[in-house]
Amino acid sequence: MLDHLGNLERTHSCGTLRASDVGASVTLMGWVARRRDFGELTFIDLRDRDGITQVVFNSEDAPEAHAKAKESRGEFVIAVTGEVVLRDEASRNPKLPTGEVEVQAREVLILNDARTLPFQLDSSVDALASEDLRLKYRYLDLRRPQLQANLRLRHRVLREIRSYMDQQGFTEIETPILIKSTPEGARDYIVPSRVQPGKFFALPQSPQLFKQLCMIAGLDKYFQIARCFRDEDLRADRQPEFTQLDLEMSFATLDQIYSVTEGLFARIFKLIGVDLPLPFPRFTYAEAMRRWGSDKPDLRIDGMELQNLSPALAGTTFAPYASALAAGGEVQGVVIKGGAGLSRKVLDELQEFAKRYGAAALAWIKLGDETTSSLLKVLGEEAVNGLASTAAAKKGDAVLIVAGKPKTVAASLGALRNEVARREKLIPANVYAPLWVTEFPMFEYHDDDGRYYAMHHPFTSPLDEDLDLLERAVEGGETDLLGKLRTKAYDPVINGVELASGSIRIHRRDVQRLVFKALGLTTEEARSRFGFFLDALEYGTPPHGGIAPGIDRLMMVLAGTENIRDVMAFPKTASATDLMIDAPGEVDQKQLEELHLRVVKE
Ligand code: AMO
Repeated sequence: MLDHLGNLERTHSCGTLRASDVGASVTLMGWVARRRDFGELTFIDLRDRDGITQVVFNSEDAPEAHAKAKESRGEFVIAVTGEVVLRDEASRNPKLPTGEVEVQAREVLILNDARTLPFQLDSSVDALASEDLRLKYRYLDLRRPQLQANLRLRHRVLREIRSYMDQQGFTEIETPILIKSTPEGARDYIVPSRVQPGKFFALPQSPQLFKQLCMIAGLDKYFQIARCFRDEDLRADRQPEFTQLDLEMSFATLDQIYSVTEGLFARIFKLIGVDLPLPFPRFTYAEAMRRWGSDKPDLRIDGMELQNLSPALAGTTFAPYASALAAGGEVQGVVIKGGAGLSRKVLDELQEFAKRYGAAALAWIKLGDETTSSLLKVLGEEAVNGLASTAAAKKGDAVLIVAGKPKTVAASLGALRNEVARREKLIPANVYAPLWVTEFPMFEYHDDDGRYYAMHHPFTSPLDEDLDLLERAVEGGETDLLGKLRTKAYDPVINGVELASGSIRIHRRDVQRLVFKALGLTTEEARSRFGFFLDALEYGTPPHGGIAPGIDRLMMVLAGTENIRDVMAFPKTASATDLMIDAPGEVDQKQLEELHLRVVKE
């Protein structure tokens, strides 16, 4: 028989009682986290979002309450009224904030029962049930204190963002969810229209064009905590539906945007007690790629910068290196301080790791008591020593070497740098190393279909001094120049995580048209997709720019987790499904007909 709550009110949460409350009469409500029976005495750990309080039921003092406690199973919902008492010395629990006291129950209400859970809530993370099972019962998994703490931190972050943006003079503006496709590089989720047969809305990949339209509308400073939708291949740090702090400013210089963004991150990191070093150092994309092989380098890792070994190999007859150099490629290395002790097994694993990033092979030199190297046989001792000294490696170090196209070399050595630092525990704890990566290239050439794509998005402004390259490439047919065009785009990076992306935008229609043309859009295609925007550019568009921090990514760094699902209430799986509500799902025939749709089964 279940009890009614009636008018009974909670006096305290389960995380608040301390020794100073001893003697108080209290009413707590929550879930039975654990029950232990010792004949006349039964103990229940009562849990709510604030913590756990131990409740003791004595069959002599309160026989009815004791009987109900014995009836209660894990995750039953109960209300307890009783007196706060000090625990005896031996049974105090210093790990629990409420661990000095317990509540001696007088009365209990069983407000609801619960089936046996499909998995345990109190097991340590390593022993957890499969993630799929946890996602199916997400509302149970969310009862874990760690996930609750993450969501409450997220709430505080959002509140801080709103307060900061308001103080900086930004207006929160909601933009539509049912829109037309905006290109941000991923596929759109589309929504069929019932009243316009054969027509579709797209869900926004970001509010990019709307925020620019807000600037054209004279709203001056816009922000929005915006839900974005992208049908793209998922990774540990990506979700098909995620949240951005989207912001845009009129008449803004690069420095103004950097400073607003840094101020924002400083305020947010203060919430976890971290003082970010300001201003963030700035590196151009070219410099970041050259030094760390990455456009999101982890600057917590000391050194381990890429070393160009190509000059030391000029004239080599070793075929893999000779052919890489002849084809315009390069040979680069990374020095691992104290790496001479790396085992063959580890080196083999690193080789496999590098191959995942496109490297044909990973060569190594170890400067131990004697020099050993995978290159000794093919290059000889002198050349190997030459490479080690070009790389500035010292006795006790190791050098990891990759040859190939610059893109592949950077990608594999950049990833190796992180991987080795992680394995060898070279990343200091509790350090936050922010930076800006600036001047991203405008276009990226894709070998597979032989054309250029926008690296950020097509509304990004080229550097003023590179504008003539764009004109020569598009109007003068010097297409190769597109690869050289640099932009006013910038990403803030912290600890190897790209937290945001932004740029100063194109505000001139002639430049916007050139960019569309460079991307291979005919005048008609540009009109049909972006006509509304090209029109708007004709009515007095102020220079403007902005940025969009990914809230979920930011939360991952703040909460110290590698899994984006740990910082979202109801995330999707790696295959973009919701296991709890079983979505996406099928719809009935009638609904399809109303939407003028027919499903073609393969
Ligand atoms: P961009 O596409 O780089 O830029 O996105 C900005 C930030 O959003 C986060 N992010 C994601 N987070 C979780 N899951 C995803 N699938 C995902 N995709 C992106 C990242 C990223 O840095 N309109 C531009 C911004 C601008 O130019 O102002 C944009 O959306 O943290």
